[in-house]
Amino acid sequence: MIVLAIESSCDETSVSINKDGTTILSNVVLSQIALHAKYGGVVPEIASREHVKGITAVFEESFEKAHIAPEDVDLVAVTEGPGLIGSLLIGINAAKAFALARNIPIIGVHHIAGHVYANAIEAPLEFPLICLVVSGGHTELLKMKSHYHFEKLGETKDDAIGEAYDKIARVLGIGYPGGPAIDERAQAYKKSDRYPMPRVSTDNPYDFSYSGLKSHVINMLNRMRMKGEPLDVDKMCASFQEAAVEHLIQKSLDAVKAVNAKMFLVAGGVAANSLLRARVQETFDFVKVAMPPFEYCTDNAAMIGVAGYYKYITHQKVDTLDMNGRSRLAIE
Ligand code: KG4
Ligand code: ZN
Repeated sequence: MIVLAIESSCDETSVSINKDGTTILSNVVLSQIALHAKYGGVVPEIASREHVKGITAVFEESFEKAHIAPEDVDLVAVTEGPGLIGSLLIGINAAKAFALARNIPIIGVHHIAGHVYANAIEAPLEFPLICLVVSGGHTELLKMKSHYHFEKLGETKDDAIGEAYDKIARVLGIGYPGGPAIDERAQAYKKSDRYPMPRVSTDNPYDFSYSGLKSHVINMLNRMRMKGEPLDVDKMCASFQEAAVEHLIQKSLDAVKAVNAKMFLVAGGVAANSLLRARVQETFDFVKVAMPPFEYCTDNAAMIGVAGYYKYITHQKVDTLDMNGRSRLAIE
């Protein structure tokens, strides 16, 4: 089965083609990061307009790279939400037009299901599994007992981890997006002393909280600047990163043990983080671990195509052309 997939929920326009949900034939990603960088975040109106400008060329390039003709496609998968509504609608409308013109089924994929399935590209998933989802908008622990069956064990009560990275990087003035910038500065810091960071606790053991840690860092920075104290930016990045990652590791470990999971996955843009990847490898040596290759960590259509394939074969259910930017992770 040949699957065509489209992702346009935020600031990446992406089209991918896969065979049977396992072989990625093409994955073209047009990123707008440079355009939004000067504003320190994604500007929704600019994002939608860029998707409109780019999507046709991205489509064509994806078909060319895959050596596939439009007539060969059997299924269309598209991110249906969550995301910026103006951006989502560009991808959804392109997907609908293609499916309608070729008279083939269309399936809507939840953006987070896509991130989870980025892990199925290189190796098969084994159940039950726990997936830690860490992105610019989400921080959550999911349990899967079978394909395309998601149960949310916990989530952030305030900021997502990626959001905290981006905000702190902005206050430090070290660039956008903040995750890679902080990660790089933290890796450059080779000493062992750290600025003090709070240890955060939540009522539900599987929930997360990042606003306290974020405010602590920003308040500390403001205080140091007011007092004219010297600031070691690399040390601050290393101190924040260590506390942020430790919060994820501890809760994930509890969840993996509690459900006796066969596999532990990490998904989302923050899965590219060097410390998180290293800590996961050393902590979860008693289960199978999967983390997406770097190119599939941040937003891309390959992960949407793989998730779409599994949603289709698992639930034998297609969507109608009335999808309009809704977002459901569970199947109704
Ligand atoms: O999944 P994603 O591409 O978009 C959303 O769905 O949100 O994730 C983007 C987030 C941004 O907050 C970015 O700063 C973060 O992923 N990120 C990282 C790293 N690379 C990207 N955070 C920490 N360390 C990284 N190396
Ligand atoms: Zn994402």
